[in-house]
Amino acid sequence: MQNRIADILASAGAGAEVVINGWVRTRRDGKGFSFFEVNDGSCLSGIQAVVPGTLGNYESQLAHVTTGSSVRVRGTLVDSPGQGQKYELQASEVFVYGMAPSDYPLQKKKHSLEYLREIAHLRPRTNTIGAVARLRNSLSYAVHSFFQERGFFYVHTPIITASDCEGAGEMFRVSTLDIDNPPRVEGGGIDYGKDFFGKPANLTVSGQLEGETYAMAMGRIYTFGPTFRAENSNTARHLAEFWMIEPEAAFFRLKDDMDLAEDFIRCLCKHALDNNKDDLEFFNRRVSPTVISNIESAASQSFERITYTEAIDKLLSSGNQFQYPVSWGVDIQSEHERYLTEVIFKKPVIVYDYPKEIKAFYMRLNDDGKTVGAMDILVPGIGELVGGSEREDRVDVLISRMRDFGLDESKYWWYLDLRKYGGAPHAGFGLGFERMMLFVTGLQNIRDVIPYPRYPGNAEF
Ligand code: 4AD
Ligand code: MG
Repeated sequence: MQNRIADILASAGAGAEVVINGWVRTRRDGKGFSFFEVNDGSCLSGIQAVVPGTLGNYESQLAHVTTGSSVRVRGTLVDSPGQGQKYELQASEVFVYGMAPSDYPLQKKKHSLEYLREIAHLRPRTNTIGAVARLRNSLSYAVHSFFQERGFFYVHTPIITASDCEGAGEMFRVSTLDIDNPPRVEGGGIDYGKDFFGKPANLTVSGQLEGETYAMAMGRIYTFGPTFRAENSNTARHLAEFWMIEPEAAFFRLKDDMDLAEDFIRCLCKHALDNNKDDLEFFNRRVSPTVISNIESAASQSFERITYTEAIDKLLSSGNQFQYPVSWGVDIQSEHERYLTEVIFKKPVIVYDYPKEIKAFYMRLNDDGKTVGAMDILVPGIGELVGGSEREDRVDVLISRMRDFGLDESKYWWYLDLRKYGGAPHAGFGLGFERMMLFVTGLQNIRDVIPYPRYPGNAEF
């Protein structure tokens, strides 16, 4: 029987016979024995194996085991005399699967997160990235349980699409044309009729538009998948490939949408607190001393809700000097978002009813003719975590909004059909999974919370 260290620490007791498989973090030698600190990735803690010099392969092999080597240890759990661990493993047999030569890049010392990004294939063997990976797994599970328990169906929207959901044009082209010598139409433009799909196609920036079609048939749906944005923003909050959760619900208004999003974030936070205690304590100790209190506060307090107009007033009356000056109609910048959530309210804030000019074409125009039923959720340390809205369900208003944005409405014929045939109010939002991961880990850079980050100039691994 093989045991995972997480299971051993959770349920085995002193005297148990166990077999662990893992990687040696360090070897220390005593008189006639060695200590191997073994970690198997199942949890933050490793187990210290006490390896006696009397083992047959001790002199020839075990005394030379290096950091990074993979081993199997059989032995008996005994109460540990050492600090910081409950048990150690008195080894009766140690098998070495593979040694790690001295050029192993993860020698026992503190490595910077920047350095670890350069060895992204090995970094899950570190405490920090291992804890990130366990939290990602745990929150993914929580995403599905949250929606499944509330009657939302999981829908798989396409990755390759011919429509631009956000209308922002920041898309990656998908093509099989010969870039060096593409077919041309008369006049010199590229002949996309000869491309794989017979027209220009891209990687999706959001599953929302297709998600809406299923909500307008099944009531409540959600997507959870990768999305792609070719925005050239080299920031600690943006990735070119990120994961988004997008629920969409028929007959929901903006208020229902805000309630759902708030409940969702609260449940994710609660799930992490209930299931990832060791990893969260590690982040609190090693990364940011406020991470647990931020999660606890998001899990228990209700979020502040203010209109965009009120938010602008608050920022103006704060007297604070911002790099980007504030006035009604400007897009709220990251510095403003953080000021609202971190300084003014000190908790998550939902800002709603934004000027129509700064939001996407599909958001429902309010009766004032100036604002749309949009909402963003801002959280301490991050800024925008969620963007959502009630959707424009009046076909004439939607068409005129598309024209305002310079979009070709004929390309959105199927999206307009939803309004033409049995149209109804509906709403949804998108939560950036990596931004949520930043919130629960306290890490500063989004490149550290996804296994293989994609950003301008980087697609290694
Ligand atoms: O605000 P966004 O652009 O909204 C949408 O895509 C809508 N279609 C969602 C919907 O209503 N169904 O993006 C939603 C969230 C943002 O709040 C942010 O958390 C995250 O996605 N996000 C990014 N995360 C990492 N890197 C990027 N480049 C991101 N762009 C957006
Ligand atoms: Mg947004």
